[in-house]
Amino acid sequence: MDRQAYKKLMRGNGQLDYEIYLNTEQLLACQKEPEDLCNPDEMQFMIVHQIEELWMKLMATTLLDIDDEMRARNSFKALTLFRRVHICQEMMSQQLTLLETMSPKDYQRIRLLLGNGSGQESPGFRVLLKMPKDLWETFVDVYLEGGTRTVDQVYDTDYRHDDAYMIAEALAEFDEQFQKFRGDHMQLIYRSIGVGAKSLKGRSVEILDEGLRYKMFPELWQVRADMTDRWGGTYGKVRDKLDVKTSEPKHPSPH
Ligand code: HEM
Repeated sequence: MDRQAYKKLMRGNGQLDYEIYLNTEQLLACQKEPEDLCNPDEMQFMIVHQIEELWMKLMATTLLDIDDEMRARNSFKALTLFRRVHICQEMMSQQLTLLETMSPKDYQRIRLLLGNGSGQESPGFRVLLKMPKDLWETFVDVYLEGGTRTVDQVYDTDYRHDDAYMIAEALAEFDEQFQKFRGDHMQLIYRSIGVGAKSLKGRSVEILDEGLRYKMFPELWQVRADMTDRWGGTYGKVRDKLDVKTSEPKHPSPH
C-alpha cells in the first residue's frame, strides 16, 4: 500500500464543514508523525492516553453541571448526567485493555521517551480527585438538608428510596468506578512493566496501593458497614447453620 497517500487521506484537508467544526486538522496533528514514532505501538500509546484525557475532561465538565443540578434539586437531570459520567468511567477502564496488545518489550522502547513523566501529572485525573469534596458539600446541603438528615436515615432508618438515596448511589457508583479504573490500571502496570517495578520517578509502583483503597465518599461506604453490624449482630459472631426446611425442628426427636 502507498503509505504516503494514505497518510494524506487520514489527515484530510481541514476544509469541509465536518473538519472545520471538529477542528480535525489540529486534532489529528496531536500525535507524532508515523515516521517519528519509536515503534508502531507508540501511536496507540499516545492515542489511548489522549482519549482518556478527553473522557476525563467530559466527566469533569459534566460534574460541574451535575453540581448545579443538585443545587437546584433537579434530581432526574442530575441522574441522567451521572449516567454519562459512569459510562465514561466504564470506557476508561475498558480502553486500558487496548494497551495489553503491546508487548512488554515494545513498551520498554516507548518508556525510554517518557522522561520522568507520571500519570499523577494528568490534568484530568487531578481535577477529578478534587471535585468529590465539593460534590459532597452540595449533597449534604441539599439532600441531607444542611445536615439535619443523616446518611443513616437515607439508607436505613428512614429509607424511602427517594432522590437523596438515588443521588447518594450515583456518587457511590462514581467512587466505585474510579476504584475500578485504578485497579485495572494497576493490572496494566503489572502486565507491562511487572509487579514491584519502579516508576519513572524512581518510586515503587506500590505507592499506588494507597489510591486503590481511597474512598471519595467514605460516609457512603461506612453506612453499609454500620447496617451490617446493626442487622447482622456483632462481627465475629458465628451464626447457626440454616435448616434445610426451616419449618422442621433442628434436632427432630426420634418419635
Ligand atoms: C503501559 C501502560 C501504562 C503504564 C506502564 C503505566 C504506569 C504507571 C505508573 C508506573 C504510575 C505511577 C507513577 C508514579 O509513581 O508517579 C502510573 C500512574 C498513573 N497512570 Fe499510568 N500507566 C500506563 C497507562 C496509563 C493510561 C492509559 C492512563 C490513562 C489515563 C494512565 C493514567 C495514570 C494515572 C491517572 C496515574 C496516577 C494513578 C493514581 O494516583 O492512583 N496510565 N502509571
